[in-house]
Amino acid sequence: MSIMTSETCLVLSGKGGVGKTTILSNVATSIAMMGKKTAIIDADLAMANLGLAFGLQDMPITLHEVLAGKASISEAIYDGPGGLKVLLCGDTIAGFQDADPAGLVEVIDYFKSRTEFIFIDAPVGVNEDIFLMLPYVDYVILVVTPDMLSMADALKMKIIAESFGCRIKGIVLNRVETMDFDEIMTEVKNTLKLDILSVIPNDLKIREAAMKMVPLVTYIPESPASIAMTKLAANIARVEYKPTIKEVGWFQRLIGKYRVKGIENYGPN
Ligand SMILES: Nc1ncnc2c1ncn2[C@@H]1O[C@H](COP(=O)(O)OP(=O)(O)O)[C@@H](O)[C@H]1O
Ligand SMILES: [Mg+2]
Repeated sequence: MSIMTSETCLVLSGKGGVGKTTILSNVATSIAMMGKKTAIIDADLAMANLGLAFGLQDMPITLHEVLAGKASISEAIYDGPGGLKVLLCGDTIAGFQDADPAGLVEVIDYFKSRTEFIFIDAPVGVNEDIFLMLPYVDYVILVVTPDMLSMADALKMKIIAESFGCRIKGIVLNRVETMDFDEIMTEVKNTLKLDILSVIPNDLKIREAAMKMVPLVTYIPESPASIAMTKLAANIARVEYKPTIKEVGWFQRLIGKYRVKGIENYGPN
């Protein structure tokens, strides 16, 4: 087997419910569909729900069994869209209690030799499992929503990641509305002092895709949030973004306006 050069990304947020799992499942799907060998790991051992994003629920073997020494890593990997390798985590209390998080490092290593991109959905906030993984990843992406609590908590996560010497690639600002756009962009940049990699609009289609248990980028690729997440994926994978559909609507116009204004470090949108 050939050894691959892989890139491992840990996705963190200080606050729960900001869209970490949603964004990660869509970005990983997009990159896999660009033809890159990609894996996604649900490392939220206590509150796993990545399986739902792919319609893969009640799987008999998961990361819990792997970390309990009851199954091999390969037995717990399922196929997602575009050949994405999905390592799910179970959602039972017993499974959580039996799992030894120390094995997460071995799991990351397993994928490093087999894939080009590894995305890890981490538990919310500060905990031991994150401390364990931070030294083994190439960078962190912080997901933030436009509210003070989310930004304040993200700042704490930034400080923690940096204390481990971990590079923070930037922020993904999720659930943005037209009304608060200008103010929020300035506030996020001033508070967190990090690059904004992507701005994802609040998009009801995300909930629709979640109900159907499919990633939005495969379900409604032309929706504003799909376009934003595909551009983010192209940026991460260093692949040229080629629109396959006409991009119109308030969000695209707003983004265009910001490009003209020339917000520094403003990435793929
Ligand atoms: N851009 C968005 N627009 C609308 N709803 C969103 C958006 N991003 C996430 N959501 C919804 O917010 C909820 C929390 O998202 P989730 O990805 O589970 O957050 P986290 O993993 O950070 O806890 C879900 O119901 C999801 O469908
Ligand atoms: Mg989540």
